Amino acid sequence: MDVNELNDLLKGKTAEEVIAYFAKEYAGEICLSSSMGAEDQVLTDMIAKVAPEVSIFTLDTGRVFPETYKLIDDTCKKYGKTIEIYFPSHERVEEMVRTKGINLFYANIENRKECCHIRKIEPLKRALKGKKVWICGLRREQSVTRYTTQTVEWDEGNQMLKVNPLINWTEKHLWEYICTHDVPYNVLHDQGFPSIGCQPCTRAISAGEDVRAGRWWWEEPEKKECGLHIKTK
Ligand code: ADX
Ligand code: SF4
Repeated sequence: MDVNELNDLLKGKTAEEVIAYFAKEYAGEICLSSSMGAEDQVLTDMIAKVAPEVSIFTLDTGRVFPETYKLIDDTCKKYGKTIEIYFPSHERVEEMVRTKGINLFYANIENRKECCHIRKIEPLKRALKGKKVWICGLRREQSVTRYTTQTVEWDEGNQMLKVNPLINWTEKHLWEYICTHDVPYNVLHDQGFPSIGCQPCTRAISAGEDVRAGRWWWEEPEKKECGLHIKTK
């Protein structure tokens, strides 16, 4: 079945049904990548309930918030599940920091992309090895770069299916689920951080600002992707 047929087949299905469908069709070849953000916590809760065999990994860039480490620990304990943690290559990080400085990302977009590449994209490739389906927590309303994203997409770069069970979810829907199901979440969400990435590249937002305004806040909205979700097709 191609991507269009899959999207037609899954139209109107709940996020849990989408997860269960792929977990059955691609047993052992499916994973969730979790940034430990609110969306991924909802997906983790759903996986624990409808498809506990699906593996979950997170990319530890070495620059995430202390609150995020606490949440990793709390989540593993609550669901009795290991969240696999992938780290960047120490040689690449050491070379980058030696030549460009510890906070290179503020200097220009090339530096920022290099840091994201070394700290996120390379480990992501290792984490996705051997898998055919990659579940993500993208939502369409998050960003201009995500307006046309579908539930199921073909990721040309990684040669696999990318599945976004929450693509149509609103923020309200998301938080209703978290409250109803008592899902653990990052305490920073209560302190003005709707979207949480690395500590030096994420700031709190003020009322009325876009939810991703605090991510790489010094860059243009159209460029604010770290490379994990760049469309190649
Ligand atoms: S980002 O590209 O801007 O950092 P965002 O924080 O919106 O992404 O998260 C979107 C999705 O990308 C998450 O739901 C998750 O699937 C994946 N993701 C982002 N950061 C990480 C991470 N550090 N580890 C694992 N997955 C991640
Ligand atoms: Fe580096 Fe910032 Fe990208 Fe994290 S978000 S990998 S610190 S540039």
